[in-house]
Amino acid sequence: MDKFVIHGGRPLNGSVAISGAKNATLALMPAALLSGGVCRLRNTPLLRDVTTMSALLQSMGVSIDMRDNILTLDTAGVNKYEAPYEHVKKMRASIYVLGPLLGRFGKAKVSMPGGCAWGPRPVNLHIEGMRKLGAEIDLKGGYIVAEAKRLKGAKINFDVSSVGATGNVMMAAVLAQGTTVIENAALEPEITFLAEFLVSMGASIDGIGTTTLEIQGVDALHPTDVDTIPDRIEAGTFLVAAALTGGTVTLTGVIPGHLSAVIRKLEDTGCRLTSTDDMITIIAPRRISPVDVTAAVYPGFPTDMQAQWTALMAVASGASVVTDTIYADRFKHIPELIRLGADIELKENAAVIRGVDHLTGAKVMSTDLRASASLILAGLVAENTTEVLRVYHLDRGYERIESKLRALGADIQRVSGEEF
Ligand code: UD1
Repeated sequence: MDKFVIHGGRPLNGSVAISGAKNATLALMPAALLSGGVCRLRNTPLLRDVTTMSALLQSMGVSIDMRDNILTLDTAGVNKYEAPYEHVKKMRASIYVLGPLLGRFGKAKVSMPGGCAWGPRPVNLHIEGMRKLGAEIDLKGGYIVAEAKRLKGAKINFDVSSVGATGNVMMAAVLAQGTTVIENAALEPEITFLAEFLVSMGASIDGIGTTTLEIQGVDALHPTDVDTIPDRIEAGTFLVAAALTGGTVTLTGVIPGHLSAVIRKLEDTGCRLTSTDDMITIIAPRRISPVDVTAAVYPGFPTDMQAQWTALMAVASGASVVTDTIYADRFKHIPELIRLGADIELKENAAVIRGVDHLTGAKVMSTDLRASASLILAGLVAENTTEVLRVYHLDRGYERIESKLRALGADIQRVSGEEF
């Protein structure tokens, strides 16, 4: 296991290229199963989660090649329709194979993901959606065992807006017989992008970018190539890093519109932000003002930026409240931020943060991806040395984070090969 050693206190300056979106890639890779041919995903980020999804698809008979951030998937030889526990326990997004397998092969056996580091994360909406499309589903031995001769279009109204369930049901419905209407569909850019990817494979989907998707099932899809959208969460993390350290940073290869909520909140803190079509520059003041955020579904403030925002508010010039309406328990970073000197009190799904003058380095660790990111950010401004342990969480979702931060002037080193 690796760790990061950070000597804080250096402002970040310069420009950084943002990688392709993890959450888009993790949906597109299983979607390629629907094509039965060779799909190319350009701008694929080199991440542990992508490797995990590759291993899962390979175990089903997909051939995969990754070079120069181009992921090539040949799904012609799929001969297994199972996502075993060994894969799913590493990454919940493995459940995304359920819809494509059911849609194309009429059968799937997918391990139930169970909870995650910060609490329960149910998959009931995925299962209900497949049942509505006519699949027979048994839950046995920890597995979702699903079968359908051919799925049939249906009207599905999600009680809760879910990224994963919208994507999964959409992937199942594109090859179903007849029309499927998904109401209260997720609007996150990665889902919109998945819908566009499916259309480029020959699917018929109306209402893309709205909360009502109307899918006309087709008999077959064909392979396609695509440039994956940039990772708005990686981009947001670098914006917060600049804000925290009082720096001036330009992000390249971004879609500013995907970051509107984050940009607005950063402006409220006193940062100046300017954007072009594919760049954002942030100029941070010496000390930022406190700003409340409430994580909500897109286009609201992303829950995947909540932990990083909490780290930012830890050194603001006053008190703020950070609330998460998506995941009420997603606060595992708070005890660790407190170890660095933050003044934070958790009240149900809200963190009440009183900004302090400075944080002080310590050894910290976390149990999930974005919490780990928040600890790195805190380490960038903490006095003395911060060691962030268990960085494999970071490697799930950030491509070369330490080299990108170092290029901006951070003093951060990865130390490998020891037991931390
Ligand atoms: C995706 C993202 C994750 C992000 C989350 C919310 C991927 C691979 N992951 O996760 O990074 O934090 O969106 O933006 O894209 N829910 C149910 N039943 C279900 C499914 C979800 O009750 O069957 C609830 C969840 O508990 C949660 C809410 O719906 O409260 C939203 O979750 P969802 O959008 O499904 O998250 P994921 O797709 O798992």
